[in-house]
Amino acid sequence: MKRNILITGGAGFIGSHVVRLMVEKYPDYRIVNLDSLTYAGNLANLADIEQAPNYRFVRADICDLDAVRRTMREYAVDSVIHLAAESHVDRSIRDPFTFARTNVMGTLTLLQAARERWNGDWEGKRFYHISTDEVYGALALTRPEGEAPYGDELFCEATRYDPHSPYSASKASSDHFVRAYHDTYGMPTLITNCSNNYGPYQFPEKLIPLFINNIRHRKPLPVYGRGENVRDWLYVEDHARAIDLVFHEGRPGETYNIGGCNEWKNIDLVKLLIRTVDRLLGQPEGDSEELITFVADRAGHDLRYAIDASKLRRELGWTPSLQFEEGIERTVRWYLDNQDWMDRITSGDYMRYYEEMYGGR
Ligand code: NAD
Ligand code: DAU
Repeated sequence: MKRNILITGGAGFIGSHVVRLMVEKYPDYRIVNLDSLTYAGNLANLADIEQAPNYRFVRADICDLDAVRRTMREYAVDSVIHLAAESHVDRSIRDPFTFARTNVMGTLTLLQAARERWNGDWEGKRFYHISTDEVYGALALTRPEGEAPYGDELFCEATRYDPHSPYSASKASSDHFVRAYHDTYGMPTLITNCSNNYGPYQFPEKLIPLFINNIRHRKPLPVYGRGENVRDWLYVEDHARAIDLVFHEGRPGETYNIGGCNEWKNIDLVKLLIRTVDRLLGQPEGDSEELITFVADRAGHDLRYAIDASKLRRELGWTPSLQFEEGIERTVRWYLDNQDWMDRITSGDYMRYYEEMYGGR
């Protein structure tokens, strides 16, 4: 079956990997990337596929109902994979309204435009919403010493929603709207809730790219609190593969959790990053540990996230493909080899890419 898929947020970190996978794997599909290019959107993330015949870029805001309607009509959109969001927890603490606008109202705008467009004919249609494990709140750290897992509990699909940050509250709200469109109007929706992603093209406000870049430039590494918080890390291409699978084979109305089964305390992860960067730069391993700086904790900092991804494995056969140490090595190499990409972001230059390519931003 040929498809016309609207992917939102395709110029961001995860979105760019999903767009690339879909464009390359499905030459018969038309992939329309709708992105407003906020500070987190960077068309350089897609430079290698932007000339592909099955790829289109539309610059628009997901909160702009007319623009979304127009795009869906122009490209006869039959499926949506929705990744556009404000995604950084620290920013949500400073500016919660922007998160409510984009994550809640933007998702509702897309749902409404899709509902109007498909007008009750759900045959072959899909509205797939990409969400986060942060909607489930925080898990206890009952085994802080030794090896992962650091507690008995894991987040599963039935875990009660208990978001704490403005970011996770806005994502939880958007998940509820997606379910409401399934339950009320019969829209064939899918939701996945994923753990922390890492890999190439991640904006350097997030822990891993920020710290790799700071180690490279011998700048302080601001570890929140004592670095005891635990995250479950997944390589971004494994997430993109899971999205492809759920999009094609997931059961409408269902939710699937996606995770790496890979819990790390922040401080241990930071030391692994330091060892890897030092080695690849030819410095004595561990030399950069002096850069670690413990700073005030993030407000409401969730202690531990850990995903039970057994439903996705059982029903659709998905498992992560990459060992973490290998993924980190690959990621560190990518950032060190693509210093230009990083420099254009830290200097603000990447914002001019759109202007050069399309004459205006
Ligand atoms: P990102 O911040 O790297 O990219 C977000 C993209 O959305 C950018 O290209 C931005 O320009 C675009 N965007 C933002 N507001 C928009 C608007 N109003 N209209 C149109 N486009 C807009 O985000 P990411 O880390 O790639 O996350 C993508 C999705 O995956 C988000 O929904 C996020 O909640 C979810 N998620 C992320 C992670 C993670 O670890 N990064 C884990 C689980 C789920
Ligand atoms: O769990 C999925 C979520 O993972 C996604 O929904 C979010 O979009 C994504 O940003 C990510 O959220 P986190 O807050 O976990 O990611 P971040 O990289 O910001 O932080 C990872 C951990 O590192 C967290 O415990 C906070 C800590 N941290 C982060 C930064 C930026 C620090 O100690 N110092 C820092 O400077």
